[in-house]
Amino acid sequence: MRTSVIAANWKMNNLYEETVRFFKEFGDTAVNVDGKEAIIAPAFPYLRTACELSKGKNIIIAAQDVYPAEKGAFTGMVGSEMLKDCGVGAVIVGHSERRHIFGESFELIRKKVTFVQNNDWKLIFCIGETLQERESGQLYEVIKEQIYTAFDENLWCDPDKVVIAYEPVWAIGTGVVATPEQAQEMHAFIRKIMGKRYDRENIPILYGGSVKPDNIKGLMDCEDIDGALVGGASLEADSYKKLFMYDR
Ligand code: 13P
Repeated sequence: MRTSVIAANWKMNNLYEETVRFFKEFGDTAVNVDGKEAIIAPAFPYLRTACELSKGKNIIIAAQDVYPAEKGAFTGMVGSEMLKDCGVGAVIVGHSERRHIFGESFELIRKKVTFVQNNDWKLIFCIGETLQERESGQLYEVIKEQIYTAFDENLWCDPDKVVIAYEPVWAIGTGVVATPEQAQEMHAFIRKIMGKRYDRENIPILYGGSVKPDNIKGLMDCEDIDGALVGGASLEADSYKKLFMYDR
């Protein structure tokens, strides 16, 4: 049985007060739940607070990004020494907003992937196609390229330390969620690649893009969907709790 992961990507949202309120309201929800993992990714300024507030609560705090260096003259960046000092357990790499808004190259993403693994954090690796790529029939090639350019064939690390999030760009923040059939088809494809090429068939594969409490169950009922990476609907504890506690 693969672990089910419900991850919250807060992006550039939730200030200090909201962060404190979230952890107070979410409370011990994850403590006694077996087989499900709660991951929360606040923005950098609130990572330390989140790590402190989530102690003993069975929640992993993730950074939304990392610069692949320990420390040094990299203005505006946050490297491994700072993330370790905060106490994070996971890092998101390859999110479509970083690829498309900030122009992250395959090369930089690969460096970050390796860096996260060398630092023994859990890697949440995001992939997904644009609408134009889907409609022009490049869908499978795009996904393959995103995976192949990030991982080499001797996939290194502990399978417990890698999660893939399939997030079609057209579904992110649009309210247009992929149908369970569309998502399942891609998850099965990704799982096939991870099995055949990397011998990691069992890694959790999450779906992301307009997931809400009222559509999560249909997605989670699919054979190859192991969880969700959620933006907007994860910002408040009440909504995240519903996502986390969905009934499979
Ligand atoms: P939304 O849930 O707001 O569509 O965002 C998805 C996402 O990008 C999570 O990483």
